[in-house]
Amino acid sequence: MNPVLERILRTKLVNNGRRDLPLHSNVVPGEGPLLQQIVHELLPKVTLEIGMAYGVSTLYICEALQQLPHQATHIVMDPAQSSHWEGIGLRHVREAGYEGLIRFYEEGSEFVLPRLLGEGTVLDMAFIDGLHTFDQVLLDFYYVNRMLRPGGVIVFDDVDMPSIQKALRCVLTYPCYELYDPSRFQHGPGSLFGRLRSTVATLPGMSQVLHPHFVRRAWEMGLSEPYVAVRKTGPDDREWTWYEDF
Ligand SMILES: C[S@@+](CC[C@H](N)C(=O)[O-])C[C@H]1O[C@@H](n2cnc3c(N)ncnc32)[C@H](O)[C@@H]1O
Repeated sequence: MNPVLERILRTKLVNNGRRDLPLHSNVVPGEGPLLQQIVHELLPKVTLEIGMAYGVSTLYICEALQQLPHQATHIVMDPAQSSHWEGIGLRHVREAGYEGLIRFYEEGSEFVLPRLLGEGTVLDMAFIDGLHTFDQVLLDFYYVNRMLRPGGVIVFDDVDMPSIQKALRCVLTYPCYELYDPSRFQHGPGSLFGRLRSTVATLPGMSQVLHPHFVRRAWEMGLSEPYVAVRKTGPDDREWTWYEDF
């Protein structure tokens, strides 16, 4: 593990150049390795992250990107990086040696994403962890979906929050999205989700892949991990009248 990331996780402290501050708001254990696993599987050229804070998820993603055989770009945006987060996320990126991988925007995603779309950006992977309101998460998804190539993956953080659950219910009505193999990551046999999944898999007629409707109910019961990955299975070719309730 990169020594900067290792130090932050071990000490649970960050430093603004004058004093130590407690680490908070970062991805939960298991989520960073999931992001890295996805990078290793997709071999992305362009990844995107909404919401940097102290840069823990950024460091995880950059560490995996740097191990790729090709040059990759990680686009990151956070309007409060200098103000609220005292520039500490960017400081960590520099200290870890990942500055060359990053394209950083100190603006809200609502301003950056439309510009990226207009510039013809194509994404392989995105991590949505910015403003956690229902409308903002859906807005983030709207633009990410427009830029994500088929086969690309989106990770949503904090799916235990009602606002994000609601947005995800909407995302999973899209015909071109499926859950991205959740059983292979942190939902091991010992986790609540893993046990639930094993039980359901033994029921007659139940396929190995959990149906999104079932998983939605699992979230509502609070049984899942607080993050989830979805994969774009093909082009988004919904008719202009398309609508499904969620
Ligand atoms: C939960 S924190 C991100 C944690 C980070 N991903 C990590 O694991 O270390 C949420 C971040 O979203 C940022 N944020 C708030 N509004 C935003 C917006 N409109 N666009 C992008 N990011 C935003 C906040 O400043 C904050 O840094």
